[in-house]
Amino acid sequence: MLRIGFIGAGGMAQALARGLIAAELSPAERIICSCPRSDVLLLDQMRRLGCRTTSNNGHVADDSRILILAVKPPVIPKVLKDVAEFITPQHLVISVAMGITTRQIEKALPPKSRVIRVMPNTPALVREGASVFSCGSNTLEEDAGTAHRIFESVGICDQIEENLLDAVTGLSGSGPAYMFMAIEALADGGVKMGIRRELAIKLAAQTLLGSAKMVLETGKHPGALKDDVCSPAGTSIQAVHQLEKIGFRSALITAVEAATIRSKETGGLF
Ligand SMILES: NC(=O)c1ccc[n+]([C@@H]2O[C@H](COP(=O)([O-])OP(=O)(O)OC[C@H]3O[C@@H](n4cnc5c(N)ncnc54)[C@H](OP(=O)(O)O)[C@@H]3O)[C@@H](O)[C@H]2O)c1
Repeated sequence: MLRIGFIGAGGMAQALARGLIAAELSPAERIICSCPRSDVLLLDQMRRLGCRTTSNNGHVADDSRILILAVKPPVIPKVLKDVAEFITPQHLVISVAMGITTRQIEKALPPKSRVIRVMPNTPALVREGASVFSCGSNTLEEDAGTAHRIFESVGICDQIEENLLDAVTGLSGSGPAYMFMAIEALADGGVKMGIRRELAIKLAAQTLLGSAKMVLETGKHPGALKDDVCSPAGTSIQAVHQLEKIGFRSALITAVEAATIRSKETGGLF
């Protein structure tokens, strides 16, 4: 059973704590969490899950063997100062902060600290997340397996070279925002054509969910699945042609590129 500490009690920390408990990777009482204002709603929510809480980041580091840094990137330097003196070779430090590299974290911790950097995404909140991680220079062989187990408790998880984690941020990290926009726009189209709003949103969301499931479960190329939907002279190919004319695919490619560049810039601000 894992002894896990969270620095930060926001959406991501709570999603992971829920996943860990549900997957029986760690009982709630072995999870401890801190954020500076101990009376805030967020810590109350962690307590309701059965986790222990404190306002002292050092205490969390001292109490745990796996320390998950779940704070916003600008807070990371301060948090690392708080925990550095408690980090030992027995600790695995996992950061979910966008853009902050394992090297930057290692430099702020004692020599040989074991660090993993993860890019999760918001669907982790409903255990349908997509997380990708990279190992720092001092991790042990079993550390990748530990990261896998933790993040698979809230969705799918894969490993990648760290120089590609900014691109992962641009694709799956920020991707839910693009997909929410797509659902909203599809629903708007339905409303424009006379469908009531509530049903239009439901149809749009289920269409994305079902299509995503088909890609993951059939293993077929998305282009081939699109071809299957487009019958000769039918309705879908008419719409596909319009989407091509207005640069739909190019817009998504550009979105991933822009978010990747922003993620790289965030790391540079550390
Ligand atoms: N949410 C996502 O889906 C998602 C996806 C990918 C990556 N991430 C990454 O995950 C991290 C956390 O995201 P989030 O959405 O959970 O953020 P969040 O909801 O804003 O939560 C941040 C938490 O950090 C706490 N905090 C602030 N300063 C602190 C300090 N000095 N010491 C300890 N805790 C401190 C906050 O407490 P107070 O409220 O008391 O300030 C809050 O509990 C971010 O780096 C984000 O980039 C999140």
